[in-house]
Amino acid sequence: MSAGSCVGTAVDSAPVDRGGTSPAETWDAFFSDFYLSAYADEERQGEADAQALSAARLSRCPEEGELLDVPCGFGRHAVPLARAGYRVTGVDRSDSLLAEARRRAGTERWPKVVRADYRDLPFKDESFDAAVNLFSSIGYLGDEEDTRALVEIRRVLRPGARLVIETMHRDLLITRFHEQDWQLLGAGRLLLEQRTFDPAAGVAQVTQTLIDGAGQRESRSYSLRVYTATELLAMLAAAGYSKAQCHGDLDGTRFTSATRLVIVAER
Ligand SMILES: C[S@@+](CC[C@H](N)C(=O)[O-])C[C@H]1O[C@@H](n2cnc3c(N)ncnc32)[C@H](O)[C@@H]1O
Repeated sequence: MSAGSCVGTAVDSAPVDRGGTSPAETWDAFFSDFYLSAYADEERQGEADAQALSAARLSRCPEEGELLDVPCGFGRHAVPLARAGYRVTGVDRSDSLLAEARRRAGTERWPKVVRADYRDLPFKDESFDAAVNLFSSIGYLGDEEDTRALVEIRRVLRPGARLVIETMHRDLLITRFHEQDWQLLGAGRLLLEQRTFDPAAGVAQVTQTLIDGAGQRESRSYSLRVYTATELLAMLAAAGYSKAQCHGDLDGTRFTSATRLVIVAER
């Protein structure tokens, strides 16, 4: 089935949490086996390897340095970073995703993977040479709590160490806004993503529906704060980072409204 032939198809969805971001239970239900089915595609691992190494370069983590991947999800960046020689610790609050990260890490010493909320990291002050926060991993908690996560990440960075954030941002969302997209996954499965955006709250409401080869459907809905670069820079300053610079990707190209947002912030 071509992606275009499905446009306009109605799919039932659960109500979303309009106005603010979703509560923790909604995220936990999304970052689960459902997320693994939609995103843990081994065929795309090559792309993740390249992103991970570019992010580490931007972070200026020294060779064999201690690198925090926060949140690490199912380990698609933490595992190649560890293979490249960094002493990587991955943190995430999803048990299912961490189980997959451990499976991918095998019996190697690194990465270490730890279950924690990124607002409350179980590490001493100044433990890491660098940190990465990749693939739109901020915006789940709203302005105040997301800032708290940035403060907490800063706390565990050594003086002068860098945090690299790679994310969708509001200008790009608006420039490329589609109410729905279809994606063909492996084994004849489809992923449908339906979106609305509340411009006053800066919150996107998203429903993802997985349709398997037999036509069985499973949906998850969530509300995510999508920040502008300006907002994220202000949050980083409020969190105590001394400098921050925007790029359009992890290779350092120019940031515009039509690129993703990479921010390199320094403790
Ligand atoms: C979009 S995924 C990206 C994960 C990883 N960076 C990657 O690129 O595959 C976002 C991750 O954030 C995690 N997460 C969400 N809220 C969190 C929180 N409060 N504390 C720690 N992890 C959280 C989820 O479990 C999920 O693994």
